[in-house]
Amino acid sequence: MNTHELELKTAYWDDPAARNAFKEFMMSIHGLDFSVWESAGFWDDAYTPFSYFHNGDVIASVCMYMLDAVIDGRPSKVTQISGVGTLPQFRRQGLNRRLTDIGLEWIEGKQVGVFLFADAPAIPFYEKCGFEALPDYAECIEVESTVSRGGAVKLDLDRPSHIDLIFDVAQRRAPISRKFGILNPKLVMFHALYLLRDFAFQIPELDCVIFCKRDGERLQIFDILSEEIPPFEQLYPYICDVHDRRVEFYFHTDQLELKSVRIKVLEGNNCYVLPPFPMKNVVFPFTCKA
Ligand SMILES: CC(C)(COP(=O)(O)OP(=O)(O)OC[C@H]1O[C@@H](n2cnc3c(N)ncnc32)[C@H](O)[C@@H]1OP(=O)(O)O)[C@@H](O)C(=O)NCCC(=O)NCCS
Repeated sequence: MNTHELELKTAYWDDPAARNAFKEFMMSIHGLDFSVWESAGFWDDAYTPFSYFHNGDVIASVCMYMLDAVIDGRPSKVTQISGVGTLPQFRRQGLNRRLTDIGLEWIEGKQVGVFLFADAPAIPFYEKCGFEALPDYAECIEVESTVSRGGAVKLDLDRPSHIDLIFDVAQRRAPISRKFGILNPKLVMFHALYLLRDFAFQIPELDCVIFCKRDGERLQIFDILSEEIPPFEQLYPYICDVHDRRVEFYFHTDQLELKSVRIKVLEGNNCYVLPPFPMKNVVFPFTCKA
């Protein structure tokens, strides 16, 4: 299709018709309903769309999500590409490549690294756009059987007061890692309201919220929101179970004062970066993934 017949729009979140068209597009391409995030008030202007419109509908789109990062202890910005798609009848006409180029031009000079997590069928597309695979990892430790001291409160994401409580800590949180941490509270809220909705716990004594899930002998920890990240030894008694044998962390654990940390490659995450990316061997924080 000739792009003259299309309207290119960006930064249109304050245009209700265009924003609704985007939400419908995301529902049709990815089956993702943004309403829960939006109605809770966490829609993020840092998530910047570049979209082709045809008769009021989004037919191809890319979002550049500007993230506040800490890399090797220094404040920085990185971009995650997300919300990528072209309606089936408009594919293979160069539309998404063009939008990606426009988006990449827009972020130039504003940030230090671009990354994304690809659905497997889209990998050839990203390779054509110049992206390269970068392995994604988790960090793991073995643990001894320990009896919980109690004191962790399960949060209920249907309760506005619990949503407020998480957002409050998310806004004043310390980066989970000084190696690679991300500080976008509204993105954390996306995870809290969707994938991690059943796995949020408050530890009032430590003024912290932890997202974690138990799966047999494995405890998965997705994020810890706190003004000061507590050492793991202090945190673990609140959330442990006698059956735990292994704990997996979906972020760098440099602040948890752990010993004997192993690295586990996360297969199938399909992380891609645009060279040059400022880091190798990155554990991308779970709650930074959009
Ligand atoms: C992946 C997707 C966004 C590509 O959009 P598109 O508008 O068709 O892409 P373009 O036409 O701009 O393609 C750019 C290049 O990638 C190639 N390409 C696109 N899709 C491809 C595919 N599935 N396999 C191989 N090559 C592909 C094109 O041939 C073109 O190559 P060229 O520059 O040599 O001509 C689209 O197929 C889509 O929406 N897929 C479903 C949703 C999805 O997977 N989104 C990504 C989630 S991470």
